[in-house]
Amino acid sequence: MGKLVVVDHPLIQHKVTMMRDKNTNTKDFKQLLDEISLLLAYEATKDLPLMDVEVETPICKTKSKMLSGRSVGVVPILRAGLGMVNGITTLIPNAKVGHIGLYRDPETHLPVEYYCKLPLDAEKRLIIIVDPMLATGGSAVAAIQFLKDRGCKDIRMMNLIAAPEGVAAVRKAHPEVDIYVAALDERLNENAYIVPGLGDAGDRIFGTK
Ligand code: PRP
Ligand code: URA
Repeated sequence: MGKLVVVDHPLIQHKVTMMRDKNTNTKDFKQLLDEISLLLAYEATKDLPLMDVEVETPICKTKSKMLSGRSVGVVPILRAGLGMVNGITTLIPNAKVGHIGLYRDPETHLPVEYYCKLPLDAEKRLIIIVDPMLATGGSAVAAIQFLKDRGCKDIRMMNLIAAPEGVAAVRKAHPEVDIYVAALDERLNENAYIVPGLGDAGDRIFGTK
């Protein structure tokens, strides 16, 4: 079974609280999401392989470590997932970014696909799917399946806030996928919104409501 990692560093908890606050404006909301995404990516890439290299410091030659070339692909689920890309690519500038367009049908809450464009070599990369909200899990389960259908084998999920229902759905459909979240909330409400959550992440990132 894949890991569920709740990255509850005090700085992350503080920033999540600021994001939950309905009075936080779009500019601050986006900035906080950037910062938390960087910190989550730090945790989600903890096991990237290293190799020994020789480096010459101003003092002497020495053996040191560098990443061994395992390349990373970041795949935001449009549209809210876009808000997590900047933070990750600040940390991993060579990561390639693919996009999967999904929206939840407002009546059925089921995901509808409208776009998919991945790096050509996506199947060779460690793929990190990003989306601030893991609610019913429908979008995440579908996105992981798209990536598997295109040959990706090493897939991780990164969310800002998850509901237990969403975690259970991903684990049932894709048990091997590790999930990294900043907060695990209580439940979903009757509209499939996360409680207490932060409302509609896409609207808060893009100022559309
Ligand atoms: C939100 C969110 C996830 C999805 C989560 O997107 O960003 O993609 O809902 O819900 P689920 O786990 O029940 O599938 P939304 O459909 O609101 O689209 P948007 O990102 O374009 O605002
Ligand atoms: N999508 C959101 O943006 N927020 C939720 O709480 C659930 C789904």
